Amino acid sequence: MKSLPFFPPRLFEDDRRAILDIIREVGADPSQEFVAGAGAARLEDAVRAINGARYSFACGSGSAAIAVALGAMGVGRGDEVIVPAFGCQPVVDSVVNIGAVPVFADVEPHTFVLDPDAAAAAVGPRTSALLPAHMFSVMADMPALRSLAEGCGLKILEDAATALGAELNGVPAGRWGDAAVLSFSQFKPLGGIGEGGLVLTDDPDIARTLPEAHTVGMDEIVARVVLLRLPQLAARLDRKMEIAARYSDALRILADKGLLQLPPEAPLGRRFHVYAVLTEERDQLREHLRLRGVTTHVYYPVPLPRQPAFTVYAKGAFPHAEAVGRTNLALPVWPGMTDRDVEYVADAVLDYFVGRH
Ligand SMILES: Cc1ncc(COP(=O)(O)O)c(C=O)c1O
Repeated sequence: MKSLPFFPPRLFEDDRRAILDIIREVGADPSQEFVAGAGAARLEDAVRAINGARYSFACGSGSAAIAVALGAMGVGRGDEVIVPAFGCQPVVDSVVNIGAVPVFADVEPHTFVLDPDAAAAAVGPRTSALLPAHMFSVMADMPALRSLAEGCGLKILEDAATALGAELNGVPAGRWGDAAVLSFSQFKPLGGIGEGGLVLTDDPDIARTLPEAHTVGMDEIVARVVLLRLPQLAARLDRKMEIAARYSDALRILADKGLLQLPPEAPLGRRFHVYAVLTEERDQLREHLRLRGVTTHVYYPVPLPRQPAFTVYAKGAFPHAEAVGRTNLALPVWPGMTDRDVEYVADAVLDYFVGRH
């Protein structure tokens, strides 16, 4: 039986030698700039060059980048920040950690990104910023969110943690907000060996207000490993798109019968970070795949406003976030998968439904 893990195995094997050299170089460098050193500065330049932002600022993690960027945008104690109800906890932690107040808004049912109408309904007199995150395969509806922000005088911090290399209407992820953040943790489009993040902005006032790099800076080994891997990004994204297309071709028959919902075909961006199907039989399908050697992943089963740390901030209902949390199942989609691997997973999904319907 095949064994197909959800997360890529032997993550850094192809770059092993180069990474060992980086570790040796950084460790032996007489400057001992282990944080915010020359590699982090080179990474800032390299990301600016591919993304087009005027300013970039490397941080210790994506979460740190969110906190730093919100602070530099003038968001502080008691200010409200609108966040999607479906997503990862560190985003909300970063809002809370600077003393701001997260206000949850529901997501769109098919794309799982912040619903602009729900965001509009959540705006109040203390709202200071929107914090939309690009989700599995789709970028947030940035044009709609920008017009909301402009109409209400709000800032936007664009959470592009999972979206380096994606585009919406020809504009790269990270170019839509007053500022944006990227993450380089291991499962992101360009994961490093450890934690890392980056703030992007065109706004000189925001850039000027970012704290001293050495207080929140990026680990030098992470920065150099990400730099090493940067030229691989386009090919990695392309291969993930191919895998996603193969899954969708194979599984469309199930979608046509209403047995599962396929991800949207990235209508808002050239990317596939996560390939998640929705099905009410999620847990049974997951077990069936496990018995076939295929590891899957359930994203954010408990919507953020229902998590104990955040219920104090929750107002209203979040039916779409609840439904996605209850029904999503992410299939493996990593660049090193062969076409046969993809076929194996798709066949195992088909087998589950053929046996039962
Ligand atoms: C959408 C999103 N934003 C922010 C983060 C936080 O990034 P980091 O793990 O680098 O702190 C993550 C990571 O899980 C994420 O998925």
